[in-house]
Order: sequence, then C-alpha cells, then structure tokens
Amino acid sequence: MIEALHEILSADRVATDDDALQNWGRDWTRNFPVAPSAVVFPERIEEVQALVRLANREGLALVPSGGRTGLSGAAVASNGEVVVSFDRMNRILDFNPADRLVRCQPGVVTANLQAFAEEQGLYYPVDFASAGSSQIGGNISTNAGGIKVIRYGMTRAWVAGLKVVTGTGELIDCNRGLMKNATGYDLRHLMIGAEGTLGLIVEAEMRLAEAPQPQRVMVLGVEQFPDILKVLERFQRHISLSAFEFFSDLALEKVRAHRDLRAPLATPSRFYALVEFDESALDLATEAFEATVEAGWVADAVLSQSEAQARDLWQLREGISESISGYTPYKNDLSVKVAALPGFLQEVDALVSESYPDYEVCWYGHIGDGNLHLNILRPAEMSVAAFHEFGHDISPGIFELVQRYDGSISAEHGVGLVKRDFLSYSRSDAEIALMRGIKAVFDPNNILNPGKILA
Ligand code: MLT
Ligand code: ZN
Repeated sequence: MIEALHEILSADRVATDDDALQNWGRDWTRNFPVAPSAVVFPERIEEVQALVRLANREGLALVPSGGRTGLSGAAVASNGEVVVSFDRMNRILDFNPADRLVRCQPGVVTANLQAFAEEQGLYYPVDFASAGSSQIGGNISTNAGGIKVIRYGMTRAWVAGLKVVTGTGELIDCNRGLMKNATGYDLRHLMIGAEGTLGLIVEAEMRLAEAPQPQRVMVLGVEQFPDILKVLERFQRHISLSAFEFFSDLALEKVRAHRDLRAPLATPSRFYALVEFDESALDLATEAFEATVEAGWVADAVLSQSEAQARDLWQLREGISESISGYTPYKNDLSVKVAALPGFLQEVDALVSESYPDYEVCWYGHIGDGNLHLNILRPAEMSVAAFHEFGHDISPGIFELVQRYDGSISAEHGVGLVKRDFLSYSRSDAEIALMRGIKAVFDPNNILNPGKILA
C-alpha cells in the first residue's frame, strides 16, 4: 500500500512514523483508539482523485483531516485507515470583490480567512475559540457554528461554491459561486455537514460579509436561568444582537482559575449572559439593561469600555472549553427551540444532579440560538475509561429528553463516532434510510470516512 501511495505522492508527503500517526489520526476527542496506517499530504486536486481511485481499487478507507479540533470523533482513524490531511492545500486562490467571494483550498485556517477578509475591508463572520487552528474544509464538513450564529448563521450560509471529489474519484463543481441557481438538487448543501462521508472538499468559494461596526460587550449576572431568556427577549426587542452567550458560575470559576482572570462583577450570580451589539445600539442596550434590572432579572452588569476590555470579557466565555479539557469531561452539545430552553435545562439538570449528585456540572453555550453545552467533569479519582462508561450510561436518558423536547442531540459539533449510535434520537428511521441511500450513491464502496455518522 505504501508503495502505491508513493506512486501518487513524493516520499516526504507520506508519513508512517508513530508520532505522525498519533498526531494526524485524531481530533480533540480522547476516548477512541488512534490507529491509522499512514498519513498523506496531497497538494493538488488530481492527487486527491488518485488517492480515492487507489482506495477503491485496494479497498482502503480514507479519513479526511483538517485542523483536528472537532469534538465528535469524525476525524479519528481507529482502523488502519489512510488519513488525508489538507495541511498542504492551504492557499487562498483568489478574491472576487464584485461578488465578495474568496476562492480557497480546504486547508486554509479559519483565522487566516478572517484576516484576509479584514484586509479587503470585509468580514468572515463564522467564529469560535478554535478558529486559530481549525480549517475551512473541516468547518464546512461539520457546518461549524460558534458565537455569531444569532446574527450571521452557520458556515452553510457562507459557502457559495464547492469542488468535491466524490467516493468514485469524480470531481464535481457544486454551485460555482452563484447567488441564484435554480437547477435542481443543490449538492453543495449535501456536502456541508457530511463530515467527509460523501466526498472530499478540495476547494471552496466563501462569501464575505460587510465589515461590522465596532462592537460593545456586556456581561450580566442573572440568578434564575429562565430570566436569561427574558433578558434575551428584552435586548432583541430593538437591537439586532451579534452574540448572546451564557455560562454558569462553575464554568466561570474554571475559566478564571485556568487563565487567571478577574471576576467580571462585584456581585456573583448563578448564571451570566454575554451580549454583544453594535456601538450604535449603545443607548438602546443601556435602556434594555435598566429594564432588566427593574424587572428583577439582572443583579449586576459590566459594559466594555475598550476593545481590550471586550476581548477580556469574551475570554470568560471562549476560554471555558479549554479550561475544563483537563477533566476529560463528558461533553454534550444539545439544541432545542429557544422557547423550550428553560424547561429543557431544568429537566436535564435535575436528571444529572439526582442520579449523580457528586459530579460537577458545567453549563455554557450559545443560548441565543437554542444551543446548550452540557459538560460533566470527571472526578479526579475516576479513570478516563470508567468515566467514559458513565457517559454511555447517562446519554440515553438525556437524549430521551432531547427527543421529547423535539431538539437535536448535536447542535454544532456533528455526529462522527460520538453520537453515531444515538442518531435515532434526532432522526427518524425513514431519514436514516435515505441518508444510507445517499451515502451509497456518492461512495458506493464505503471508502470515505466509513463508520462516521452511520454505522
Ligand atoms: C464552545 O462553544 O465553546 C465550543 O463549542 C466548544 C465546546 O463546546 O467545548
Ligand atoms: Zn459551541
């Protein structure tokens, strides 16, 4: 197999040493075995096509790999697969100002696309804590969300065109950057969020937004969870918010300890909402804040007075995930309609605290778009394996609640290996059968990321 790979790629672009296999063979999850047989680094589309053809001929499985910051195990290679890293396909190819389109390779790091947009006086609005290492191909493959979804939507909203190598090695050019294109099925949208199971994304045309005004950030202390939703409703009444995030007191405690940050408010609260809005809406935001205090929902708040202070306040939310990673937490990424959030959170919280009263439960997330991150921290004395078992035991109960609330068991992290066996809590048998049919059309020999999303 290695010889066959060398016929496609120069020797320096085929790695089989243990360090490389361990590094490129996994994402941010830590509970799956990592055992690829090789890592390859194509530089051209034709090379990706040749790899796919080889995989079909020899029965090899390919795992596409971007910045490896995923949380669902979609980029993990556990069964001798060949990892196809896009690290060397990392160039921005051109920019079309009239259409505000950037054509780029899949390995472009998200932060580099953001910086490129800024150089053009524009804005790439999909943003999250791992933007410094995640890659555009991975963002598209997981339909990444993050902290600005309430205003700008998910990655899907910014993908204008995709070149994809399907499971048979064919190159398809989906939508070609058009704004309007009513010519039947839009295959581009099938590829977005497909986690590399239908095709390998080899080029993307990303749309850019107009540059935003300077932003202000406010962090508000809220004692009762349902009041956060009242605060959201009050702020949204007259303001188009850029972000509305939340975190619990425990999440704040962890991120402060990890990054040595000061408490945002003199009076601590059980929950905190982080609101971001345009500078021009400052008077409206001040009015909204006063109304929330008068109503008794908000105890205290802080408003950023500079860009540096806004960045510091954002750290309180964006640093949480990293600050708890040492606990190898049981992570969950759930969504329900915003209106259903208070009942849903209360029931999930009760389920966890009644069954496992001694565990630390950390809540945070993108509450403005109905997305809650539930993280249960592993007690220091418990092994990672035993805690993994606990996660397996508790998941069905949580997912039954998600189902009852008509929600999703994966809001933005994807399915991968982590949620695969639970897919039926969010998708009907008919939908799963159709998904299998689609997979068989694009990848008849099941060589693209086998075992991800669908068993
Ligand atoms: C976040 O919102 O911080 C990310 O989705 C990562 C996480 O959930 O840990
Ligand atoms: Zn998130």
